[in-house]
Amino acid sequence: MPEKQSIQVVKHGDVTQRVGVEVIRARGVDVEKLIKMLIANAAAEFASTYYYYTILRMHLAGHEDYKEICEDARLEDRAHWELIVPRIYELGGELPNDLKAFHDQAGCQAAKLPEPPTTVNILTRLLESERCAIRSWIAICDMTFGKDPRTYDLASRILNEEIEHEAWFIELLAHERDGKSIPSGHFRRGEPGHAPYSKNASFYNP
Ligand SMILES: [Fe+2]
Ligand SMILES: [Fe+2]
Repeated sequence: MPEKQSIQVVKHGDVTQRVGVEVIRARGVDVEKLIKMLIANAAAEFASTYYYYTILRMHLAGHEDYKEICEDARLEDRAHWELIVPRIYELGGELPNDLKAFHDQAGCQAAKLPEPPTTVNILTRLLESERCAIRSWIAICDMTFGKDPRTYDLASRILNEEIEHEAWFIELLAHERDGKSIPSGHFRRGEPGHAPYSKNASFYNP
């Protein structure tokens, strides 16, 4: 059980308190816990987009179709990182100063290159990574629904794309591993990393 927090009244001109934080605390959000969860999610997005997905994608050599989908997922995770980091600071939190400490707080297991790095093994790793992201972002949605509209909006935009990413990798893995057709149902993105939800870009509809 989180400790019951007293609701602070923000004094005139006070820059050490935030009305934007106190109003959500008053509605029942455990702000300190939320900041921790957002840092863990940001670490997972950062590590996956800038590092692990980059490596995994490199090893899909020869599968240009898979690489294209992987690139969309990789760049959209970058958009997720960019989208959520400002919210951590608005809530009064901050990113760990130490990169290694930050990496170690990630809410999802590192998506390292599997051994052996076969296409099936890589697609499986990518799929499970998207599933972790869905679980992590819906936890933020649950925690903020009806209480913190701003964090909820950001998290639900990200969740929309993570759910699409899972569908993409189910389609690719089912095809590659089982010779089965399980369509993701998605249309192509307008450009790599289009991120219609997290970049508030219009859907690809030429
Ligand atoms: Fe993501
Ligand atoms: Fe993703």
